[in-house]
Amino acid sequence: MRREPCGQLNETNVGNEVLISGWANKWRDHGGVVFIDLRDRSGIVQVVFNPETDAELHKRAHRIRSEYVLQIKGDVRKRPSGTENQSIPSGQIEIIAKELTVLNECKQLPFMVEDDTDASESLRFKHRYLDLRRPSIQKNIILRHKVTKIIRDYLDAKGFLDIETPILTKSTPEGARDYLVPSRLNPGHFYALPQSPQIFKQILMVSGLEKYYQIVRCFRDEDLRADRQPEFTQMDLEMSFVKSDEIIGLIEGLLKRLLKETSGEVINEPFQRLTYNEAMDRFGSDKPDLRYSLELKDVSDIVKDSSFKVFLDTLSKGGIVKGVNAKGLAGYSRKEMDDLTKEVQGFGAKGLAWIKVKNGFESPIAKFFPEQTLKSLAERMEAQEGDLLLFVADTKDVANDALSRLRNELAKRLGLIKDGVFKFVWITDYPLFEWNKDEKRFDTMHHPFTSPAEEDIEFFLKGGNEDMPKIRAQAYDIVLNGYEIGGGSIRIHKKEVQDRMFEMLKITPEDADAKFGFLLEALEYGAPPHGGIALGLDRLVMILAGASSIRDVIAFPKTQKAVCPLSSAPSTVEPKQLKELSIKLDTEV
Ligand code: AMO
Ligand code: AMP
Repeated sequence: MRREPCGQLNETNVGNEVLISGWANKWRDHGGVVFIDLRDRSGIVQVVFNPETDAELHKRAHRIRSEYVLQIKGDVRKRPSGTENQSIPSGQIEIIAKELTVLNECKQLPFMVEDDTDASESLRFKHRYLDLRRPSIQKNIILRHKVTKIIRDYLDAKGFLDIETPILTKSTPEGARDYLVPSRLNPGHFYALPQSPQIFKQILMVSGLEKYYQIVRCFRDEDLRADRQPEFTQMDLEMSFVKSDEIIGLIEGLLKRLLKETSGEVINEPFQRLTYNEAMDRFGSDKPDLRYSLELKDVSDIVKDSSFKVFLDTLSKGGIVKGVNAKGLAGYSRKEMDDLTKEVQGFGAKGLAWIKVKNGFESPIAKFFPEQTLKSLAERMEAQEGDLLLFVADTKDVANDALSRLRNELAKRLGLIKDGVFKFVWITDYPLFEWNKDEKRFDTMHHPFTSPAEEDIEFFLKGGNEDMPKIRAQAYDIVLNGYEIGGGSIRIHKKEVQDRMFEMLKITPEDADAKFGFLLEALEYGAPPHGGIALGLDRLVMILAGASSIRDVIAFPKTQKAVCPLSSAPSTVEPKQLKELSIKLDTEV
């Protein structure tokens, strides 16, 4: 039904007869001549219907509306001088129509199919088929295809096998709530949709398959954000007989290739690496955006010499005082300072103390600081005339969290975030555990199958509770432009280590057996040392595409409320279906 892709026609085709098919993108009548921009996946070409060449055809062209599906036969000619369109590749030429077939009509559109749309997300998602016609979204979908193709080629060449794992399965411990599926054949029993293929991929290593990968859907019932969907895709892999450096090298090679082949950006040097502690100290976050510096500085040792009660009280309670230098913002007005303070309070801080470096030091709290202390503070903050020094006093966790978010906000205000810059960083040496205050027990920072550092294993097996926070994990996260795009670890492959892990997490042997017994048993049948990683494919493609939400790189995304406006899922079901599943709904529902 067509011979040439619309968007690829150019001056080399002048004089040829072409047969093209696509959608009427735009319709214009200029002094009796009708112009239709015909669009297919490859792009747009302008078609001309001149009443003087063919009056009947021109009349029919007049009846075309937006998004009608057309087949057109015509001749390519160079556009008259002055009418060229530099913004599209076919802009030097146009098609003089000779035949027109309307393949289908289109109803009145709920919104125009164009990149620059102000249609709401719910309207766009309800008519996602129209939304997906927008060239900018098609570009993302095509980029996503390219990325998965490169991943498959790369891993295939390295000997990885693409192996599928079950979707109707048991709960996996990735920390979110499970999506459950009732079993008709086993009343009262439920499958859980996998939060990741973690347990199965480890079992594949026990099975001797050595190198597994999968581009796989994962399901997590958690609060949604711009970078989180209830179902999302991982590039998941696992390999046997490895240490972390080999996995890190493998993924680094893949990410470099992806960047080169999708945006032409070549990175030769190894990615930067930060230990977890260093990342927290310098950036207040384990997913720092390294496109800009704005490093945080702990000033607790300096401000202890002041008489500012807020700081002294915080320090006496074991907290810290930490700050960031907002370069060049000393000109902020009182109101701008109040607004910034409110914003930082929104990040969980109690307040924001500030010092402007402006003909000396200008600050409501300067009076509490001896001159020498102010000087030391300025030195630590690498302050120059015109800078604004911002401080938060709080527990270490709160201060770090608030300041890391303030750091991102300042980068935006200072215009430090440039398009097309990609800064990768590996975060390593995570603590194995974090203390859960509410439950009064340890939680793992990754998942319970992550191995302690080799040199800490003895200690892990024999040490007391008080030693646990010091133990490091063989875990690594990969961060790109402030997003965690992947994480993995070397796994525990010995049963006694795994048993000890469950003991530390206060998971009883019965509980462990009920939840993960099949993995624990497998580990007893000659499990090889193994490890792996999973990349968040949606997030990676989002960043490569320069998009601001993963919804822009997913063909059929869900809204913030986990609803699919296109299909109206989730929906109610027939009472008969519930009965078959032995399910009774709460009467209020
Ligand atoms: P983790 O839980 O860190 O690791 O997940 C891996 C990566 O998946 C992405 N991700 C998400 N993307 C979109 N929406 C979500 N709701 C979402 N949740 C996570 C992130 C994250 O880095 N089994 C382990 C991996 C391993 O140890 O090998 C795992 O799932 O980019
Ligand atoms: P106050 O004594 O409460 O009026 O606070 C004086 C200044 O210190 C104000 O600018 C507050 O925003 C700031 N401030 C209050 N609490 C903190 C805190 N925990 N960390 C940093 N600054 C604070």
